[in-house]
Amino acid sequence: MTPSLALWSLSDAVAESLPDGGLINETFRVTRAGEVVGFLQRLNTRIFVPEVHEDIAAITEHVAARGLHTPRLAPTAEGRLWHTADDGGVWRLLTPVGDRTVHRVTELSDARAAGALVARWHSALSDFAWSFRSVRAGAHDTPKHMAGLRDAVATHVGHRLHAEVEELARTISAGWRSWTGPTELPTRVIHGDLKISNVRFSGPDATALIDLDTCAWGTLDVELGDALRSWCNRGSEDMASPSWDLDVFVAAMEGYASAARCTPTEWAAIVPGCERICWELAARFARDALEESYFGFDPAFGGRGEHNLLRARGQAALAASVRAQRGEAEAVLARLTGGPSRT
Ligand SMILES: Nc1ncnc2c1ncn2[C@@H]1O[C@H](COP(=O)(O)OP(=O)(O)O)[C@@H](O)[C@H]1O
Ligand SMILES: [Mg+2]
Repeated sequence: MTPSLALWSLSDAVAESLPDGGLINETFRVTRAGEVVGFLQRLNTRIFVPEVHEDIAAITEHVAARGLHTPRLAPTAEGRLWHTADDGGVWRLLTPVGDRTVHRVTELSDARAAGALVARWHSALSDFAWSFRSVRAGAHDTPKHMAGLRDAVATHVGHRLHAEVEELARTISAGWRSWTGPTELPTRVIHGDLKISNVRFSGPDATALIDLDTCAWGTLDVELGDALRSWCNRGSEDMASPSWDLDVFVAAMEGYASAARCTPTEWAAIVPGCERICWELAARFARDALEESYFGFDPAFGGRGEHNLLRARGQAALAASVRAQRGEAEAVLARLTGGPSRT
């Protein structure tokens, strides 16, 4: 049950569940007299602490002061950033941004607009000094995820998918062992979950980033690697052999380069970062196939194990596809940034 909207002085408004919301937070669209006045969300407290709202308030204030459009936390009538209900539920109200969500990139113009918005957002935060209240450890520790897969293969020898996962694990670890790319990157504020559905559009423009719970100190290879492996996967994440679309990459990077401030090492880390995140996700899904632990599986694919194995194969194929196009992708970046081409 949603808390009373009177808590936010909106007693004459109604909250309706958003059917196409994400998997993490529960979202309700709040309307008054037919006009959208906010988005009410129940924070997923298995993943985030309520103090994450102090981070969101500070970040949104900072980017708004630099002229960016952004959702803001609407304080409660008591002046709090969030409301804790009697059942322990943590609720927040965000101001609305944009009028369109994209779930899969089909238009290059959307990728270009989204890339430019992400660059503006990164640049706006380049002078943001903040100690995050919400800190989640080691989300992209690739060696740790590789070791986790090795351990799972050694442990779950009796699992029905063991032979298949073991073979895939060999491909993944060989891919990772032969991966090369810059590793010492400067730290900056990252969004942390730049899937395209976390970019809100308004007509042709990308207007604002939402879903800000994952903001953190991080590095650009992780940030853009994760974004581009999903934006450029024009197939689905539930496909065994998707490919990485260079045209989407070019459009996104044209947008990003139009407003970015990056070091040469950061530019050089984007394409390898993309490949790396694919290997890493492949390792995580392959491990989950044996441990059957992923929470968002779809029963249409058989068991959790089968679904995760399919996803692992998909990410491994994507990694190989990025590697095969690395020379071309890096030549594009060299053209956009005036740097040296490695092809
Ligand atoms: N401030 C906002 N303005 C417009 N739409 C929003 C806003 N916040 C959330 N939404 C809508 O709710 C959906 C889910 O919100 P999001 O914060 O991305 O949660 P999740 O973590 O579950 O993905 C978004 O895809 C978007 O459609
Ligand atoms: Mg989201």
